[in-house]
Amino acid sequence: MTNAAKHISTPAPLDVAAIKADFPILSETVYGKPLTFLDSAASAQKPLSVINAEKELFEHYYANIHRGVYKFSQDATEAYEETRNTVQTFINAHRSRECIFVRGATEGINLVAQTWGRSNVSEGDEIILSELEHHSNIVPWQMLAEEKGAKIKVIPLLDDGSVDMEVYASLLTERTKLVAVAHISNSIGTHLPVGEIIRMAHAAGAKVLLDGCQAAPHEAIDVQALDVDFYAFSAHKVYGPTGIGVIYGKEELLDAMPPWQGGGDMISTVTFEKTTYNDLPHKFEAGTPNISGGIAMKHALDYVSAIGFDRIAAHEADLRDYASEQLVGSNSVRLIGTAEGKGAIISFVMESAHPHDIGTILDRQGIAVRAGHHCAQPVMDRFGIPGTVRASFGIYNDRSDVDRLIEGLKKVVDIFG
Ligand code: ALA
Repeated sequence: MTNAAKHISTPAPLDVAAIKADFPILSETVYGKPLTFLDSAASAQKPLSVINAEKELFEHYYANIHRGVYKFSQDATEAYEETRNTVQTFINAHRSRECIFVRGATEGINLVAQTWGRSNVSEGDEIILSELEHHSNIVPWQMLAEEKGAKIKVIPLLDDGSVDMEVYASLLTERTKLVAVAHISNSIGTHLPVGEIIRMAHAAGAKVLLDGCQAAPHEAIDVQALDVDFYAFSAHKVYGPTGIGVIYGKEELLDAMPPWQGGGDMISTVTFEKTTYNDLPHKFEAGTPNISGGIAMKHALDYVSAIGFDRIAAHEADLRDYASEQLVGSNSVRLIGTAEGKGAIISFVMESAHPHDIGTILDRQGIAVRAGHHCAQPVMDRFGIPGTVRASFGIYNDRSDVDRLIEGLKKVVDIFG
């Protein structure tokens, strides 16, 4: 391979030390030990640019948005709407009005269930989910199905944690209205073949919603290339603020959907006889929104975009493989979820100790992991386990964090055998 070719195929490594320095919390100690943060799948830490964006707003130009004629209100509105443009670019939406700001992915999925769902799903219709969904991509559809007399069908998992595409093909019928699946599983990391899932759903006349929570921090999202109908993600998992996220929808779908919550900003005119509704995106954004979160979200998306997703993906794949190799070599650990091309999430169990005990022992060594069912109980049922220990990686992790995890697990073996 020539040097030029090498350069093209191998993204430059991340400067993890420089990235760590941008995240003040990572220099905290826990029980006198340095922090090894391996729970970014639950919520990622925040860089200074995000922290400062909120501080700057509250110190220098805070006001309500979309309402004021005075300078601060206009400045805050401009900053908030600038984020919408950033989101448009981030997911490659055709227009920024297709990017609706919500509290997070959970709210986005509920919005689609209660607006698009209520007007498009009828008795006897079918909604397809997969066995590895997070509860937030199960329960809103169960509520809708119960209300409408619709049926939920589930794509089962194979032993490696991948979805059974043959069964999926057989589940699609002319009654299928929607396929709602994760882009990447939060509990075991499986990366779903979403392109194929979408093509097959569309061929059957169904729409597709992707829960992109675990993909948005780790890979470039292109909703137009995917041709996905709805895409949800939360800012707090992309190193951004809590309480803000995005539900993307194709413009013609969003336009045809009835509004969801009623209130200020979502209306055009109100009389007691009749109310008319605002245009997209405001039709779905009733009330004073999360102004500071909306403004700061831009800085999080800018931060990861400036690093580049080719570099992020290569870095995190290395951590995933480095951790997997060592855990597979250990007699005491069993990995749950080993599908090809999985995300930067390692889920495992140990015969001798409950996940909560393992999590607690790791915590005393300064290592933060998530332990339990990860809001994905059907996955745990599928594998016949109460829960797993989950280590999830982000841009600020490096191999030394994996080494600490492996050392930490030796302590578990010392105590529990
Ligand atoms: N959905 C988040 C997780 O996987 C909270 O931990």
